[in-house]
Amino acid sequence: MNQLSIVTTADGSKTIYNAAVGEHYHSRHGALQESLHVFVNAGLDYFLAQNNAKEASILEVGFGTGLNFLLSSDYCTRHQIHLQYTGIEAYPLTADMMAQTGYEQYVSAELWAGYLQHYPDTLKNEVSIDVATQLQIAHCKLVEFKSDQLFDIIYFDAFAAVHQPEMWELPAISHISQFLKPGGVFVTYAITGNLKRMLKSLGFAIQKIPGAPGKREMLRAIR
Ligand SMILES: C[S@@+](CC[C@H](N)C(=O)[O-])C[C@H]1O[C@@H](n2cnc3c(N)ncnc32)[C@H](O)[C@@H]1O
Repeated sequence: MNQLSIVTTADGSKTIYNAAVGEHYHSRHGALQESLHVFVNAGLDYFLAQNNAKEASILEVGFGTGLNFLLSSDYCTRHQIHLQYTGIEAYPLTADMMAQTGYEQYVSAELWAGYLQHYPDTLKNEVSIDVATQLQIAHCKLVEFKSDQLFDIIYFDAFAAVHQPEMWELPAISHISQFLKPGGVFVTYAITGNLKRMLKSLGFAIQKIPGAPGKREMLRAIR
């Protein structure tokens, strides 16, 4: 039985509902708004501005549809930033499912074409999607992810703790944190006392900032 269906969120953008988990891939208050607010603005744009940087490396937990990747890559192309993006995804979607999201309306035609053309090769190798963007999707669980590389930014986009608590517990959070550079930025859509305590114990400075529509606050942490 196919457990995945396409759902329209409050801002008109689409997301996926996973019936087995009982959870959406993005906020029902607006997938596009959430992705732009939490990841592109509070994560990528913040990092670039703070560091006056012309390049960025991003590690995403829960690559899913690739909406966060697409919006980040589109942003980088418009601002002449070189982007190296690694997604971690335990259960990759089919290309057909990705094509049904309608996300082509939010990014350049070239990016969308390159993204679909190279999928699922991106699950095996790092691929140049365009002149300024490289993408690789690690097909594994978060705790199995290995890399020699450290990243500038972590986008932590796991399913909510109520549906997948192990993603928000110390073994997972400490495992992923080790791949962030000193001074690197960790962003996620949620904020809980437990997450703040864990990140503090791992050497992060915590910032509580306004959340995307439907959430009062979100978390940004600097290593
Ligand atoms: C909230 S959704 C992410 C949405 C995604 N960022 C997007 O823009 O479409 C959570 C994602 O985590 C993936 N996932 C679930 N368990 C995982 C695990 N243990 N390790 C890595 N990814 C996992 C799911 O398959 C799903 O794609």
